[in-house]
Amino acid sequence: MNKPHILMCPPVHYGIEYEINPWMSTERQADHGLANHQWQALRQILLDAGAMISDVQPVAGLPDLVFTANSAIVFGKRAVLARFKHEQRQGEEPHFRRWLEAHSWQVDEPPADFSFEGAGDALFCGDTLYAGYRQRSDASGHQQIGEMLGVRVLPLELVDPYYYHLDTCFCPLAPDEAIYLPAAFDDYGQRVLAESIPKLHSVEEDEAKSFACNAVVVGKTVVTNIGCPELHAMLRSIGFDPIETPLSEFVKAGGSAKCLTLRLDGEEAAGWKG
Ligand code: ARG
Repeated sequence: MNKPHILMCPPVHYGIEYEINPWMSTERQADHGLANHQWQALRQILLDAGAMISDVQPVAGLPDLVFTANSAIVFGKRAVLARFKHEQRQGEEPHFRRWLEAHSWQVDEPPADFSFEGAGDALFCGDTLYAGYRQRSDASGHQQIGEMLGVRVLPLELVDPYYYHLDTCFCPLAPDEAIYLPAAFDDYGQRVLAESIPKLHSVEEDEAKSFACNAVVVGKTVVTNIGCPELHAMLRSIGFDPIETPLSEFVKAGGSAKCLTLRLDGEEAAGWKG
């Protein structure tokens, strides 16, 4: 079995330099030393859980490059690159493209004119691609990406600007199992999730605010920010091994554990190979 492979980006140039989601305020700056410490700790937990980690080179002037989840969606040796909605992040695209191409991925653009924020908004649970739209990515773009990759797509409208990427309110744990914050979806989306995922567990709003759903799953290990005790108790009861690690400095940008990682051995593998 292949080792889980994760892409990260050291937070050398990380900071809150603009405001593109409700979590961000340029008046609430990240502590640089602490951010670096938190990032290193997350990296070590993932290494200890058995992952192999590659780094994309940090670039001055691209403070959100640390959120590698948004760079692309990876499917086997193919990657569909992000097309960021906000111009502040569009400069990241060529850097991610270069890294992926240099490491032998076939990189495709998303369909013309659609914005698409990679594995932040498109997550496999089993062989279905769950795709968040409205806040950052476009629904018809997701459908076309599904056609490009030959996979079934279930689009989910994200109704709350605080949960602007699908990975802030939904996390697959296994092909038939996931956690989610119901209030981040409309009734239709909640029904789609309930009908298509046999074991669907809801997360409380106060823990979702601590980015409980923004979890990195490596085998049975589930890594989140601190402040999610109920989720962790639930995860332990169903046989997972949750680990918390403080990520306050990244929450200031609207991100947490999962946002800081991109699964390179295929999002479809996340959660059950290990
Ligand atoms: N500041 C970044 C943005 O708003 C945070 C990205 C978080 N990434 C994620 N996968 N949810 O784009």
